[in-house]
Amino acid sequence: MSRIAIASDHGGFHLKAVLVKAMNEWGLAVEDLGTHTDASCDYPDYAHALARAVSQGRFQRGVLICGTGIGMSITANRHPGVRAAAVSDTFSARMAREHNDANVLCMGERVVGQGLALEILKAWLDGRPDPDARHVRRVAKIELPDR
Ligand code: RB5
Repeated sequence: MSRIAIASDHGGFHLKAVLVKAMNEWGLAVEDLGTHTDASCDYPDYAHALARAVSQGRFQRGVLICGTGIGMSITANRHPGVRAAAVSDTFSARMAREHNDANVLCMGERVVGQGLALEILKAWLDGRPDPDARHVRRVAKIELPDR
């Protein structure tokens, strides 16, 4: 599998460390784009950095963690080709891959516990976009035509 980027703000800093450790143990190549301390910072700075890298094709996928996952997903979805999903259950994680081809997973450290976050991450990593034409057509329609 290609390299995966991960980033968080201070609100997601501790969960990010757990997810990085797990992905390393699973043999995945993960690049941590920060934040690198739990000092207060602005989530859009990290969401933009990761989403820009995914949009430009430097990473195939990315994971963003903040307090809720919401600010990260709103910001990441401003970037062309980025389909970021804020997820807090395993069913949605799988469907985000199968029906929406979500290439960025967002979670909230203040929403999900570490065990659930790991299961969500695994479901999203293992999920595959459904190749059925209706899903391919719908995902293609997500992108604004003038971009
Ligand atoms: C930071 O306090 C918090 O607002 C941020 O982590 C995130 O939840 C925003 O969506």
